[in-house]
Amino acid sequence: MSIWPRTLLWRTVLLIALLLIVAHLTWLQIFRVSEREPRAQQIAQQIVSVINLTRAALITAQPSKRLELLRDLSQDEGIQVYPAEPNEKVSPLPDLPILKLIDAELRDRLGPDTRLATSRHGIRGAWVSFRIDDDDYWVLIPRTRLERTDPLRWIGWGALVLLMALGGAFLIVARINRPLGELTRAAAQMGQGRRPPPVAEQGPAEIRTLARTFNQMAADLKRLDDERALLLAGVSHDLRTPLSRIRLGLEMLDDKGDATLKTGMVHDIGEIDAAIGQFLNFARLGEAEPVAAEGDLNALVRGVAERYARSGRAVATQLHPLPPLPLRPLMVQHLVTNLIENALRHGGPAVEVTTGRTNGCAFVEVLDRGPGIPSAEAERMLQPFTRLDSARGGSGTGLGLAIVDRIAHMHGGAVQLLPRDGGGLRARVELPIEKR
Ligand SMILES: Nc1ncnc2c1ncn2[C@@H]1O[C@H](COP(=O)(O)OP(=O)(O)OP(=O)(O)O)[C@@H](O)[C@H]1O
Ligand SMILES: [Mg+2]
Repeated sequence: MSIWPRTLLWRTVLLIALLLIVAHLTWLQIFRVSEREPRAQQIAQQIVSVINLTRAALITAQPSKRLELLRDLSQDEGIQVYPAEPNEKVSPLPDLPILKLIDAELRDRLGPDTRLATSRHGIRGAWVSFRIDDDDYWVLIPRTRLERTDPLRWIGWGALVLLMALGGAFLIVARINRPLGELTRAAAQMGQGRRPPPVAEQGPAEIRTLARTFNQMAADLKRLDDERALLLAGVSHDLRTPLSRIRLGLEMLDDKGDATLKTGMVHDIGEIDAAIGQFLNFARLGEAEPVAAEGDLNALVRGVAERYARSGRAVATQLHPLPPLPLRPLMVQHLVTNLIENALRHGGPAVEVTTGRTNGCAFVEVLDRGPGIPSAEAERMLQPFTRLDSARGGSGTGLGLAIVDRIAHMHGGAVQLLPRDGGGLRARVELPIEKR
């Protein structure tokens, strides 16, 4: 799994967060460097005052009172003075820029012999050496006398400001992204063959233009779809009436003519009529049927199978329990009929319909033992007016699977034309169980 987020919102938020953190750290570093010198001077100044006062007190105090004075200094001020041992070695200063600056400053003010150490005989603190006459001394100054504010407090405030900036950035990006989210949802709905209401044309100029163009496109598509459906329905309807008159006329003809010719013509008329029926079905897909919230897919499949059984074409069913799901009953019935019709016509005998449930979806599968559809052709067969055997003539309009695909999409589902184990086609439709 990659940590790079998928959505525009989180990508932008992450980028802004990185930018803010880098900017913050850079500022912190600039602050630390530019503040270092004045801070070193200030600390050195405090040390110099302590040393000068201590030295002056020791020089002016009577020798008999010196011990008492040292005890007072230690008790009241936390300042401890020790005589230096001959040839004393102290550990070298840690390699910190600020300590180097303080060291230089102290030598400058107290003389070149002054030494600074952060640890002596294992005791940590600010150790500074000074001299009275020919005697060397060490002063231990507690850190609390030298350090000003707690640096952790600054980091805490910095983190708080950073957090607030991040929160603000999130709100701003979310606000800019909201109309885009709405557009994405509407586009997804259109992809499923539904007709979403127009999206609000608001927000920054680019997004407003995008929304307006999208609405325009959706309206154009709808108009085109309506016109095509009207045309198809009109033509089909008008053809049906003369066609039924021809069939009637044919059937009333006496049997003087060629009987096989007559049967052939009746058969052809039957096929033309079926094709017109399929055109009408395709054209009417736009007239969305209301959704039954608690649809029963198994009952629909059972009903269709029984109809086939009555007309002498057995279809085996294997139905597994399914929860109620939102569906348009007539359309789904139509979908199942088209798949069974294909299995009977293009597939082989022993047609089987199964239903079941897989993660969040109900599925219906129509299986046959015919030649199947090569997987390279499966996607193309879902387009209107495409047929595998179109070059060889044969019957069918090539609309059946297109109708199945549209109905599946209208339900937020999808169609798969898969090879069946042991030969044949496995036409599988998945429909989501959750209301969308
Ligand atoms: N079960 C199947 N087995 C083998 N080929 C199939 C099967 N179902 C469909 N096909 C192939 O896919 C093509 C497209 O099917 P589709 O249902 O869209 O059209 P049609 O059956 O030819 O016509 P219509 O269903 O509109 O009367 C078919 O012409 C056929 O070549
Ligand atoms: Mg078909």
